[in-house]
Amino acid sequence: MTSPIAPVLPETIALAAEILGEGGLVAIPTETVYGLAADASNAEAIARIYEVKGRPRFNPLIAHVASWEMAEAEAEFSPLARKCAEAFWPGALTLVLPARAGGRVSDLARAGLDTLAIRWPAQKAAAALITVFGRPLVAPSANRSGHVSPTRAEHVLADLGGRIDLVLDGGPCSVGMESTILGFDADGPVLLRPGGIPTERIAEVLGLPVRVHGPDEGINAPGQTKAHYAPKAKLRLNAAAPEDGEGYLAFGPNSPGGLNLSPTGDLVEAATKLFAMLRALDQRFERIAVAPIPEHGLGEAINDRLSRAAHRD
Ligand code: TXA
Ligand code: MG
Repeated sequence: MTSPIAPVLPETIALAAEILGEGGLVAIPTETVYGLAADASNAEAIARIYEVKGRPRFNPLIAHVASWEMAEAEAEFSPLARKCAEAFWPGALTLVLPARAGGRVSDLARAGLDTLAIRWPAQKAAAALITVFGRPLVAPSANRSGHVSPTRAEHVLADLGGRIDLVLDGGPCSVGMESTILGFDADGPVLLRPGGIPTERIAEVLGLPVRVHGPDEGINAPGQTKAHYAPKAKLRLNAAAPEDGEGYLAFGPNSPGGLNLSPTGDLVEAATKLFAMLRALDQRFERIAVAPIPEHGLGEAINDRLSRAAHRD
């Protein structure tokens, strides 16, 4: 069995909304990565997400909204959280906020936490679908648990084809890296996952330092296990050149062959290509060497994903 794939059109958005309303699962394009969407208020549909992804139950999901009204019905925004949302929404920033009593997002999606991860995606088809649907959609990345995130409709089909009801094909994702996840504690903003919005930009907008969440700290950030983004191949990081038998993920000018994330050394371009190139190399090699990537801007998120992909227990 295969899953139907449809281009983004008003008719296919309406069809997607209908499928979601019946408890079905639809893979949707967002600017970060493709998401596997379900009605956030439907516990059965959410349970199917976990089953289809092969994801451990305790890993909570992000609720996707498409208006301030929808966001405020689900979560409580402190002045600091509001400032962040106003600066970066719609966009690649997820905020972890206190869940509002009476919100529609199912407990199962929050994995029983009293907080909710919430994001307003910028991708036009995603926002249009949420608006037509009229309530939040939960959407984890549309890959099998442990695989790299899909940045094209073909990646979704390769991982989940035959297991979901529809794939909306919106072309390649413009950011190509999951959203940055930001929480707040008594001392201010806390980075839970580096992603599509560089941490420096958040600190700049807030005029505050953003602390990086430590492994044993208060805010609950499950799903951040070291081996979360593992390809099958063994990765060797910070490699100036490949050794015999290794595939090479290059970066910048004068690189010794391989697939180049950005020949001009542009970290934004590199983020858009990271997952697709890791997938392509993983299909051809058992060992992949990766060039050093600078740690500023989106380099922080790229290096985070690479170190997870390299981790073996
Ligand atoms: O860009 C993205 O964020 C994509 C697109 C589809 O929106 N989604 C995505 O979802 O990456 P997912 O489920 O693959 O990753 C969500 C992360 C998980 O690590 C989860 O543990 C964390 O968000 N998370 C969700 N709710 C949380 C909460 N209440 N507190 C802390 N972490 C939370
Ligand atoms: Mg994921």
